[in-house]
Amino acid sequence: MKYSVITFGCRVNQADSLGFEESLLARGATVAPPEDADVVIVNTCSVTSSADQGARQTIRRIARTNPTARIVVTGCYATRRPDEVAALPNVIRVVPNQEKDRLAGYLTTAERFGDGDGGCGAAIEPGVAGRTAFTLRVQTGCDERCSYCIIPSTRGLPRSLPLETIAAEIARVAAAGFKEIALTGVHLGSYGSDLTPRASLRDLLASVTAEAESLRSRPRDLLFRISSLEPMDCSPEIVQLVAEHDCFAPHFHLPLQHASDRLLRAMRRPYTIAQYSALVDDIRTRIPHAAIGSDIIVGFPGETEEDVVQLLAYLEASPLTHLHVFPYSDRPGTEATSMAGKVPGDLVRDRARRVREVSTRLSARFRANQTGRVFRALTIDDGSVAVTGNYLKLRIAPGHVRNQWVDVKVGEPTLTSTQLSSWVIG
Ligand code: F3S
Repeated sequence: MKYSVITFGCRVNQADSLGFEESLLARGATVAPPEDADVVIVNTCSVTSSADQGARQTIRRIARTNPTARIVVTGCYATRRPDEVAALPNVIRVVPNQEKDRLAGYLTTAERFGDGDGGCGAAIEPGVAGRTAFTLRVQTGCDERCSYCIIPSTRGLPRSLPLETIAAEIARVAAAGFKEIALTGVHLGSYGSDLTPRASLRDLLASVTAEAESLRSRPRDLLFRISSLEPMDCSPEIVQLVAEHDCFAPHFHLPLQHASDRLLRAMRRPYTIAQYSALVDDIRTRIPHAAIGSDIIVGFPGETEEDVVQLLAYLEASPLTHLHVFPYSDRPGTEATSMAGKVPGDLVRDRARRVREVSTRLSARFRANQTGRVFRALTIDDGSVAVTGNYLKLRIAPGHVRNQWVDVKVGEPTLTSTQLSSWVIG
């Protein structure tokens, strides 16, 4: 059977898709482009209305370009609107998030597999799903109640993998040749609160550090990247661990959402802009070369032009290095949907454009500040690009393959490319 997986949304979805691929490869299926696949799995997101729309458009396009494709749809949009998804062309099955772990099994029984049927297919290796780094989901679910967010209803209550399971998974993935592992969760900061005995993200990172030390045949051979972390969960101890141990990428992603305390309260975000500002300033002081990304929502109900000016002023002067901008859209069933003061769509789009312009300047400033510095970086794709721990993507000299550590010196930004020029020095 030839399969294809298309993934929307966050790193948690990427981790889930990696799991599908691993199971399908182990059952003897082979990967193919969507237009040539027997089965196409579409792993959807529902964080905004345009995420839903993107999934619908993709499914219709696959059905048009590959009329015999059998399409299996999973993820948050499929969980939230199964009937809507089931009515789309060529969709043979809708698998909600809580049944994702069984998705490959459903396909095994429904489809004829190749020679490897029964489990003797290819093992997972760097490059599967086009990804050099392995995304390891250590936790899922969320019981926070941000007023705009649909995720608690699509992902359920928090569930964490035990520390021993994660250690075993890290050993397996490292043995398969992966050199970078992204630790991810729907609410990563709540890691371990559901376990008995309880554990914490700090405990997990301490255990990961020990694991990395025991697995690494030479220094810095295995790198962990902590994915999106809520600001209130990023404690000084966690920042210190990242600062002290080179097994962690100097990279934080801390969703701010807005710089107006009034809007943060309306969003039910449990911090103020002053607390957030102190956190990212502290990171910048302790790890001067750290990448610090953030998520921003524009057009939340009640947002005024003054709020936007305040947001832009904060971001422009902040130590943040890149932003994901989300134009607000109503998610049925959330508290924000019934709030007064909805912002017209054209204004929301214009505000998103203004914040994205700041993001471009922040990224350029950060890249320029790193010029001349030497970093260890991991080659990706065909080996012509390498990614540093602080998330710079650098074009490097020819002669490398995917998944190699190289030491690179960051060159001047070129006029013709958004990527920095750089050169390999070791
Ligand atoms: Fe999207 Fe679901 Fe992730 S809504 S952001 S795929 S948890």
